[in-house]
Amino acid sequence: MTVQQKIQLQYLPSDLKPELLPKHVAVIMDGNGRWAKRQGLPRIMGHKRGVDALKDLLRCCKDWGVEALTAYAFSTENWGRPREEVDFLMTLFQKVLRQELREMVRENVQIKFVGNLNDLPSALQTEISRSMEETKDNRSIRFTIATNYGGRQEIVQACHAIAQKVEQGLLKADEIDEATFERHLYTAGTCDPDLLIRTSGEVRLSNFLLWQMAYSEIYITDTLWPDFDRSEFHRALSTFQQRQRRFGKVV
Ligand code: IPE
Ligand code: IPE
Ligand code: MG
Repeated sequence: MTVQQKIQLQYLPSDLKPELLPKHVAVIMDGNGRWAKRQGLPRIMGHKRGVDALKDLLRCCKDWGVEALTAYAFSTENWGRPREEVDFLMTLFQKVLRQELREMVRENVQIKFVGNLNDLPSALQTEISRSMEETKDNRSIRFTIATNYGGRQEIVQACHAIAQKVEQGLLKADEIDEATFERHLYTAGTCDPDLLIRTSGEVRLSNFLLWQMAYSEIYITDTLWPDFDRSEFHRALSTFQQRQRRFGKVV
């Protein structure tokens, strides 16, 4: 994208209707490895470039008035990758968080991490806690990063937490409804994603937000994550605005 095009896309493009914007966008940032391979680079270079794409999308969501962005950074299944790649990713997350925190505070971004955070390296856990604490009162956009996240793991941990309350007599089994369940998910307090974007052409959820995406609109693009830019996001939003969401009803 040229600098001129970037400047033009600083504000919500005029063909998009503000009232039909998704409040919450979720993104499966896929294709970093293939992007690197195509450039003749090691996979980790794709992850590095992927961070730039995410930073730009966050800023774009903020500029255009999207209230929440959730990005899938590392799944519970991604531990199965080569050790060097996993180590690189953990260090990258930690470095980026430390480098970007000031900017996030300045831009009034609220950072939240979801996933089984206790199993992450302790240095990363420290950065995560700091970033969540320092940005908890920020209101320009809610930015959630799913790290060591698995939809099934999230559902099982919610069941444990609820079962414990029942055991302790704090809750009755027949009081458990969808709202109770949602309060025990990592995403408690955030509305469900209206739009899911997945890059690199794969047509699957890969264990992402299984409960929360019951009625999300899904947009798949062949573009690899490091190449996903504002004009790509514009296309995703245009498509979203043409969808008719029915939620099982006759409209
Ligand atoms: C997504 O890109 C990033 C993570 C899962 C951490 P990939 O690393 O999955 O890239 P591909 O799918 O192998 O191209
Ligand atoms: C999903 O991508 C996880 C993240 C983007 C963090 P994967 O590359 O791990 O998904 P699969 O293996 O193709 O389903
Ligand atoms: Mg992948």
